Order: sequence, then C-alpha cells, then structure tokens
Amino acid sequence: MTDPILSVRGLEKRYGAFIGCTDVSFDVWPGEVVAIVGESGSGKTTLLNCISGRLERSAGEIRYRMRDGRFPDLGHLSEAERRFLMRTDWGFVHQNPADGLRMRVSAGANVGERLMAVGERHYGDIRRTAGDWLSRVEIAAERIDDQPIAFSGGMRQRLQIARNLVTHPRLIFMDEPTGGLDVSVQARVLDLLRGLVTDLSLAVVIVTHDLAVARLLSQRMIVMKGGHIVEAGLTDRVLDDPRHAYTQLLVASIPES
Ligand SMILES: Nc1ncnc2c1ncn2[C@@H]1O[C@H](COP(=O)(O)OP(=O)(O)OP(=O)(O)O)[C@@H](O)[C@H]1O
Ligand SMILES: [Mg+2]
Repeated sequence: MTDPILSVRGLEKRYGAFIGCTDVSFDVWPGEVVAIVGESGSGKTTLLNCISGRLERSAGEIRYRMRDGRFPDLGHLSEAERRFLMRTDWGFVHQNPADGLRMRVSAGANVGERLMAVGERHYGDIRRTAGDWLSRVEIAAERIDDQPIAFSGGMRQRLQIARNLVTHPRLIFMDEPTGGLDVSVQARVLDLLRGLVTDLSLAVVIVTHDLAVARLLSQRMIVMKGGHIVEAGLTDRVLDDPRHAYTQLLVASIPES
C-alpha cells in the first residue's frame, strides 16, 4: 500500500465553548473517495472546512502529501505552497454553485480563470482547454460564452466541477455537491462525478447526508454524530453491517433500493 495523501489526527474545532468537531482522526489514500455522513449539525462541514484549510482548527494535526513527497502539516506551509494547493492541487465543490462560480462571467472564463491562476497565458490554448472541459461535463460547446446565471442548477454544478478539475488537482473536497438539485438531475451529476473520479483517479472527501450518494461514490465512510466519529470503515461494510447504534438507525431510515 502507498502512503496516505491526507492524514488527520486528533482534530478539534471549537466555536467559543461549543465543540464543532473533536477527536477526529483518519487518512485518505490517493485515488480514494471517503464519504463523511451524519445528521445536520454533526460537524461534517466544520471538519471539511478545517481539513481544506478554509477554517482554522483549534487543535490537532492535518498533514498533506505534497507532489515532491513531503508530508507537512498545513499549518507549516509557506504562503506560496498554500496558494499552490488552493489554486492547483486541491478543488472544492460547493453545494451552492454560486459559491464556487463567478455567476456573471462566461462559462469559458470560469474554467479559464483557474488556468490563468496557474500561469497559463495563451488565449487560444485557454479557450480550447476550457472548451474540452465543458464537453467533458456535458455542456454544449455553443454555451461557452454564456454566463452561469443563465444555466440550470445541474449545468451550474457541472460547470463548477469543470472549473475545479481543469488544473488536474489530486484532492477534491465536496460539501453536498448534489444537495441542491432535484432527484433526476442529481443522478446525472453523480454519474458524471463517478466517471471523472475514476478516470482521473482523484482522491475525494465528500460530505453528504445522503447514504445513497455515499454508496455510489465512496469506498470508505466516516459516520459523525455530535462532532465525533462514531463509526468508520469500508462503505459496503458500514452500510450492510452497521455496528454503532446510530449508524444502524441511519441505515434503517433509508428506503430499500
Ligand atoms: N460559525 C459557527 N459558530 C458557532 N457554531 C457553529 C458555527 N458553524 C457551525 N457551528 C455549529 O457546529 C455544529 C456543527 O456544524 P456543521 O455546520 O459542521 O454541521 P453539518 O454536519 O455540516 O450540518 P448540515 O448537515 O446541516 O450542513 C453545529 O451545532 C453548528 O451549529
Ligand atoms: Mg454542512
């Protein structure tokens, strides 16, 4: 087995006296999808935002495998290294596409912008690459100059995915990426995500309260309750043979598929 790409140990986040998450430890391996599930308020977003460097932790270690093999704590990165992770090596897919897109610039520019941030300067190349990515996420080529404000929810989410993937990131964070979509649209976005994650062997940490999403996309699962991990393991094992009473309750409350 190779080394983990991300390693979290004893992570805690307090909001004043209130505990957002605590005693959280897990690893993510390259190419692996890990789902974080649990009821509303269990600390999923808190955890995701801490490990993606968007929220300051109160305690604990978060280590990331850099492309050169080093494995520093996020707190020890230089500003340039942090920028590299945010702009290139990591992606973040928000539940609400408006949080991850610029709604009033063209679809092509939304994708091209990430390329320019990593130093791509040639207009023709940027436009061609942006066009390639739009087609990979099944957005018609003739929509390249349209603004996402004119797109449906599913298209916006697919555009957000393209914008994230264009820099060939190694690790993607997702917070309820299909949470705001209706069911039929959800299925298409999930299908697309599953294909891309496999093709690009991306490591993904995905927050979802939907166990069907976890089943479809993830190999491993972490179940949270009240800011703690109550159960973790292979997704099939956790869903087919849940051990913790809370996981049993979660699994029992989803309709048979
Ligand atoms: N900025 C904040 N200040 C104070 N408390 C917060 C803050 N953000 C989150 N919390 C609290 O921390 C706990 C965990 O919140 P978090 O948003 O991580 O939950 P979640 O599992 O993502 O829930 P949901 O499924 O509703 O998105 C909740 O009790 C929440 O009220
Ligand atoms: Mg949340």
